[in-house]
Amino acid sequence: MHKIGIYFGTDAGTTRLIAKKLARKLGDIADKPANVNRTEIEHFLSHDFLILGTPTYGINQLPGKSTNIEAGSWEEFLPELDIIDFSGKTIALYGLGDQEKYSERYADSMIFLYRFFTERGATIIGQWNTDGYTFKHSQAVVDGRFVGLALDQQSQGLLTEDRMDQWLAQIKAELAAGA
Ligand SMILES: Cc1cc2nc3c(=O)[nH]c(=O)nc-3n(C[C@H](O)[C@H](O)[C@H](O)COP(=O)(O)O)c2cc1C
Repeated sequence: MHKIGIYFGTDAGTTRLIAKKLARKLGDIADKPANVNRTEIEHFLSHDFLILGTPTYGINQLPGKSTNIEAGSWEEFLPELDIIDFSGKTIALYGLGDQEKYSERYADSMIFLYRFFTERGATIIGQWNTDGYTFKHSQAVVDGRFVGLALDQQSQGLLTEDRMDQWLAQIKAELAAGA
C-alpha cells in the first residue's frame, strides 16, 4: 500500500506547519507533505489515503490567486482534478481559521474540499466534534460536525496538539474499521 499523502495550501505557512506535525506524528506511514501549488497530479493520485489541509481566506472560496496567493493554491489545483473519479480513495480534511476574528465564517474553506471530493466519489473520514470551539457560524459544519479537523492557531493554539493527537487516533480507528 502507498504511504499516506499529505497535501496543503497555505499563505502564511501555518497550514504547512500543521502538515509537517501531522506527518511527524504519523511517522513512516506518511509521505513528506507537499504544497498543492507544486504537486503533480500523478503523485497526488498515487495515494489511496490522503490528508488535505486548507486555511480560509475570503468569502465562499478556496485559497488561491483570488485571495492574493500569487503562487496559487487549491483554487488552481482542484480544476486539474475535475474529471477524476475518486471512488476507492479515502480522504481526511483539516482546516485552519480564526474563530474570534472570523466568527461568522470560521474555517469555511474545508466545505469546498469536502464537496469537491464527495461529488467525485471519495469517502471522507475524520469528521470532528464542534465542542470547545466558540465560533458563531461555519459552512464547514455538516449535520452538527465539522467535515474535518478545525484548528485555530490564533485563539486556541494551545489546544492544537491534543486535537491533532485525538484526530489522528480517530482516523486510524476509522481506517482500521474499513472506512
Ligand atoms: C485576510 C485574511 C482573511 C481571513 N479570513 C478568514 C475567514 O474567513 N475565516 C477564518 O476562519 N479565518 C480567516 N483568516 C484566518 C486564517 O485562515 C488563519 O490565520 C490561518 O491560520 C492562515 O493559514 P496559513 O498560515 O496556512 O495561510 C483570515 C486571515 C486573513 C489574513
